[in-house]
Amino acid sequence: MSEAKKLYIKTYGCQMNVYDSERMAEAMGGAGYVETDTPDDADMILLNTCHIREKAAEKVYSELGRFKGLKDAKPDLKIGVAGCVAQAEGEEIMRRQPMVDLVVGPQSYHNLPALEAKARGGDKALDTQFPLDDKFETLRKRGGKAKRGPTAFLTVQEGCDKFCAFCVVPYTRGAEVSRPVSRIVDEAKELVERGVRELTLLGQNVNAYHGEGPDGNDWSLAQLIWELDKVDGLERIRFTTSHPNDMSDDLIAAHGECAKLMPYLHLPVQSGSDRILKRMNRSHTAESYIRLIERIRAARPDILLSGDFIVGFPEETEADFADTMALIEEVRYGYAYSFKYSTRPGTPAAERAQLDEEVKTERLHRLQALITEQQRAIQDAMVGREVGVLFEKAGRRDGQMVGKSDYLHAVHVSDSTVQSGDLRRVEIIESGANSLGGRVLPA
Ligand code: SAH
Ligand code: SF4
Ligand code: F3S
Repeated sequence: MSEAKKLYIKTYGCQMNVYDSERMAEAMGGAGYVETDTPDDADMILLNTCHIREKAAEKVYSELGRFKGLKDAKPDLKIGVAGCVAQAEGEEIMRRQPMVDLVVGPQSYHNLPALEAKARGGDKALDTQFPLDDKFETLRKRGGKAKRGPTAFLTVQEGCDKFCAFCVVPYTRGAEVSRPVSRIVDEAKELVERGVRELTLLGQNVNAYHGEGPDGNDWSLAQLIWELDKVDGLERIRFTTSHPNDMSDDLIAAHGECAKLMPYLHLPVQSGSDRILKRMNRSHTAESYIRLIERIRAARPDILLSGDFIVGFPEETEADFADTMALIEEVRYGYAYSFKYSTRPGTPAAERAQLDEEVKTERLHRLQALITEQQRAIQDAMVGREVGVLFEKAGRRDGQMVGKSDYLHAVHVSDSTVQSGDLRRVEIIESGANSLGGRVLPA
C-alpha cells in the first residue's frame, strides 16, 4: 500500500467551521489522507475560511501568499479553499491566486474527495452549489470511529433567513436547514461512544431549529434537547448561536428544568439603540431583549449570558452608542464579543454612509472596557462557589488539569486523581487573569 498522503487544514471563523473541518478531515481519511499539523510536509493544504468581516476575508489571501514557496518546491502540492470566502468569491479566488487548485463551498463538503481527485488529475476543481442531497449524512457515513476528546460540536441547523443588514451569512451558508432529530441523536450516540461527554449543538440560528421529529412533525430545539437528555453517557448540552426572536417558551423552560443543559446562553443583541436595531433589520428592540433576559433569568437565575455587539454601524450617533452601553449595564454579561462594523460586499448596509474609523475604534474601546469590567466581576464572584467541571486536558504546570465549568469558565486544579473526561464537583478558590483555580471535592 502506498504511504498515506498528508492533509493540513487551517480553520478560521466560527465553531461551525471547526465542525466542518473535522468532517472534511474524516472524509479525506477515506481518500487516503491523514492529518498533519504543519503545512511543510502536506500533500494538500485546505483553508477553511470566514467572510464575516473584511479582515477575516483578507487573511485568506495573505495566508495563500505564504504557501507560494511550498508550492514552488513541491508542484504536486494541492491547495484548496473551503468555507464562506469560497462560497462568496468562488472562481474569483483562482483568478486572484492562480496557485489555488480547489474551491469548495460549505454546502458541497461531501463532494470534497471527488474534487480532490479532479485537482490531482491536474484540473481546477470548483463546487459552490447548494445541492439537494444530504451533505450531513454522506459525511457522517464517511466519519471515523477514532477516540475523541470529552467535548464536541454537532451541527443541527445551518443557514439563516434573517438577513440582518450587515451580515453575509445568509448568502454564504444559504437558507435555514434543520437536520432530522433521529440523525442528530444517532450522531450524538456515536460521539458518546468515542468518548464525548459534552455536546455543543451548532447552528447560525440554532434556536430556530425545526427538524423532523420521530413522529413526523417538526420539533423545536427544546424538544431535541430533551431527546438528547436521554442519551446515556452524554452529561452536558450547550447550543449556539441563538437569535432573540427565536427564544421560545419551551426553550426558556428547558433552561430551568433540564439538568444536562448548561447555565450559559449566547444571545447576541448587536446594539442597544432601537433606531440602529431597526436599520440593522434585527426585528427586535432593546426593550424586548431586556424583557426576554428577565424571563430567562426567572427560569434559571444563575445563567451566564454572553453577547455580540457591533459598534459604528452606519448612522450610529453618540446617543445610540450610549443606549448600547446602557443595555450592557442593565444585562451584565459574563462574556461578549464586540466588533467594529465592517462593510461586506452585497449586504444592504454596505451601501450606506460610513462612520470614521477613529470613531468606531474609540467606541469599541469604551465598550470593551465596560464588558471586561463585568466579565471580571462575574468571574471573581465564582470564588467560594461549587461548580461542575468537565476536565479536558493537562494544564501548563506539572500535575495540573484544566477543564470548563458549567458556566464555561476555564478552571484548573492540581489533583493527580483527575483525568481527562472526568466530570467533578469543584470548589473555586481563586480567580486569575484568564481562568479560575479550584479544589476537587470528594465524589
Ligand atoms: N448567527 C449569529 C452570529 C453571526 S456572525 C447571530 O445572529 O448572532 C457573529 C457575529 O459577527 C455577529 O453576531 C455580529 O456581531 C458580528 N458581525 C456580523 N457581521 C458583521 C459585520 N459586517 N461587521 C462587524 N461585525 C459583524
Ligand atoms: Fe447574520 Fe443576522 Fe443571520 Fe445572525 S441572524 S447569521 S447576524 S443575518
Ligand atoms: Fe464566518 Fe461563515 Fe462562520 S462567515 S462566522 S465562517 S458562518
